[in-house]
Amino acid sequence: MSGVAVDSSEKPDAAIDHKAAIAHWSNVSADNHGVLGGYPQVSRVDLQGSSNFLAKLRRKSTIHKPSTRLSRTVDCGAGIGRITAGFLSKIAEVVDIVEPVVQLTKVITEGDQFKELRKQGRIGEVFNKGLEDWTPSHQYDLIWNQWCLGQLTDDQLVDYFQRTKDKVTEGGWIVVKENMSTDPEGKDIFDPADSSVTRSDGKFRELFKRVGFKIVATEVQRGMPKELFPVRSYALQVKMKLGMSSYKTATKRK
Ligand SMILES: C[S@@+](CC[C@H](N)C(=O)[O-])C[C@H]1O[C@@H](n2cnc3c(N)ncnc32)[C@H](O)[C@@H]1O
Repeated sequence: MSGVAVDSSEKPDAAIDHKAAIAHWSNVSADNHGVLGGYPQVSRVDLQGSSNFLAKLRRKSTIHKPSTRLSRTVDCGAGIGRITAGFLSKIAEVVDIVEPVVQLTKVITEGDQFKELRKQGRIGEVFNKGLEDWTPSHQYDLIWNQWCLGQLTDDQLVDYFQRTKDKVTEGGWIVVKENMSTDPEGKDIFDPADSSVTRSDGKFRELFKRVGFKIVATEVQRGMPKELFPVRSYALQVKMKLGMSSYKTATKRK
């Protein structure tokens, strides 16, 4: 959740080493403390913020109205399924999981907290791989990516986004919720601790544009500790499939 600016490289993502990242995440405790970098207390405000963000999107949608559960969603870079347990399972019938570290997904596949969801068949497929190696095989109403996209290089991220484009149902969303770089020159910041990059808002927008994603809503998470990076959520839709009828208002930037 923290990092240091690396000014020796114009491309901080070039320093990403997947093996080092997996080694780091395999060594954290399989709980909120471990997956939230020692800030388990942010989970509550984060989940409430995500729930509000999606509720606002759904109130404007003529396809995925708030009154019904979404069919299938996927929690990407899910860790121990914190977001699945506290948010996604409440708004969707089935949640798939993508997470490379098996020790973390054991909480979802074997832990008591997920017993009822497993019994009800509401935990779908669990893919133990990095997003750079994952190709969605289902159609999703919502693809949720949070605090994990910094593990991919810019090119890997663009390739991954390209693979999701045909896998979102009409009127569905890809959500990206990530830390924002606070570098005064707007550079991305490499964090050697988990071998990830923290991107700037400008970089995210540039990458979304490259793939043909339209930002239909974006907002900054409120109530996070001051010493942490600001966190921004983006709701994205594929330009070609947007179907403006599914949206009552245009992009709003806060
Ligand atoms: C900061 S934790 C966040 C976990 C979860 N998204 C949450 O908010 O509770 C980062 C997660 O990204 C996972 N991760 C590491 N490399 C990844 C990759 N290449 N693709 C997807 N996830 C990755 C880690 O194993 C870890 O579970």
